[in-house]
Parts: sequence; structure tokens; C-alpha cells
Amino acid sequence: MDIILLGPPGAGKGTQSQRLVETRGMVQLSTGDMLRAAVKAGTPVGLKAKAVMEAGELVSDAIVSALIGEHLDQSRDKGAIFDGFPRTQHQAEALDILLDERGRKLAYVIELEVDEEALVERITGRFTCASCGAPYHERFRPTQIQDQCDVCGGHEFKRRPDDNEQTVRTRMAEYRAKTAPILPYYEARGLVARVDGMASMDEVTRQIDTVLDR
Ligand code: AP5
Ligand code: ZN
Repeated sequence: MDIILLGPPGAGKGTQSQRLVETRGMVQLSTGDMLRAAVKAGTPVGLKAKAVMEAGELVSDAIVSALIGEHLDQSRDKGAIFDGFPRTQHQAEALDILLDERGRKLAYVIELEVDEEALVERITGRFTCASCGAPYHERFRPTQIQDQCDVCGGHEFKRRPDDNEQTVRTRMAEYRAKTAPILPYYEARGLVARVDGMASMDEVTRQIDTVLDR
């Protein structure tokens, strides 16, 4: 089953994707993660994307659609969770073509409904384990033992360079201007399911499970 998780920055797309990977063996395809890996590796794509991401703007449709195309077949057996993609009408159409070519079809577009102001706190408080990537939050999901990763025991943590308030505001404006407008494209096909992204993480997971088990 292939699904899209749609929602503004901080809505919980990454958190919920990770849970679906663990519980259902689905494959998370996050264009944000792919781009961050490219920046870290210093590839030509990374060099182009770095400043755009730090400004909170969108990387070009051609670059991100190509990244998804490269990774899509990894999810052939267990299904994909598209996290942070598509983000524009162009990308939505590109995804349809990529799936069509493989005889695959979207099952659901899950929209995480959230209150944008609350998201600023979610994002500015977020950090991850530098070794295993486990996600945390200063207030909502601290490590159980201070400065020690619950998953791998690592002691180093990192923050994203685009997780400051000013960039978050730009990212949200980009979401409103370019990404939210693609919802009707999926609504017309009856694919959109809404879940309450302001509920607790477990409750959001429960609501997503209800949709997927319909
Ligand atoms: P990307 O990496 O996709 O970032 P984003 O969309 O801004 O989303 P986030 O990762 O910030 O949030 P999330 O929804 O995953 O929330 P999370 O689960 O972490 O994109 C980054 C950049 O890359 C873009 O700005 C753009 O430049 C570029 N890019 C990427 N894809 C692109 C594309 N397709 N086209 C063009 N450019 C692209 O949760 C956030 C925090 O809240 C965490 O700390 C978490 O622990 C906490 N939290 C989660 N759920 C809850 C809850 N229910 N209650 C309380 N706390 C919660
Ligand atoms: Zn770890």
C-alpha cells in the first residue's frame, strides 16, 4: 500500500512515518531526508539544495521528483510512505506518473490537521540522535536518561539548521502557498483522510491505523 502523509512542517510526518516503518514494515521515502543526505555528502544535488533548504524555500520539482524516482523501487513489496513529497502540483503529477509506470496506485493521502502556531514550538524544540537518527523533543519527547539516546545509547545529538523560528515561518508560508493547494487534486479522487495532528503521538498513530485498516 502506498500512502502520502501531508502536513506543514512539524505536523508529525516524520514521527508517524517512523512508526509505520516499525509496525508495518513500510518504507519511508522522505525527500527532506534524501536532500539532507545529499547536502552531507556534498553531491551536486546537495550543493544546489543547501542554501534553498536553509532559507526554508522549496528545492526544484525536477530534483526532488528525480530523487523519489531513484528510491521508489525499494518500497515495491511493503509499500511507501511519502513523507514531505509531493509538495507542489507538479510533484503530485510526477508521482502519479512514477507510480503508474510501475502499476502502483495511491491508497490514501493522510492529512495531518494542525495548528500552525503550536508547530513552531514543536520544531524549535526538536533534536535527533546523531548516531541512529531517533527523533526527540525537549518537551514532548525527551530522552529517558538525560543526554543518552533511548534507542542506541548514543550521547551525541543534533539539530537541523532550518529549525529556527524565522525559517520555520518561511517553510509554513511555502506550505500554505504551494502544498495545501494540491489537496483538491486528491480530494477529487476520494483519497484524502484527515487525522487530528494536534492529538498525542499515540492518538495520531491510532487514527492513522484506523484509516489504513479500513
Ligand atoms: P522536510 O524534511 O520534509 O521538513 P518539513 O516538511 O518542514 O517537515 P518536518 O520534518 O519539519 O516535520 P514533520 O512533519 O516530519 O514533523 P516531526 O515528526 O519531525 O523538508 C525540509 C526542507 O527540504 C524543505 O523546507 C525544503 O527546502 C526541502 N524539501 C523537502 N522535500 C521537498 C520537496 N518535496 N520539494 C521541494 N523541497 C523539498 O515532528 C516535529 C517535532 O514535533 C518532533 O520533535 C516530534 O517529536 C514532535 N511531535 C510530533 N508529533 C507530535 C505530537 N502529536 N505531539 C507532540 N509533539 C509531536
Ligand atoms: Zn540513537
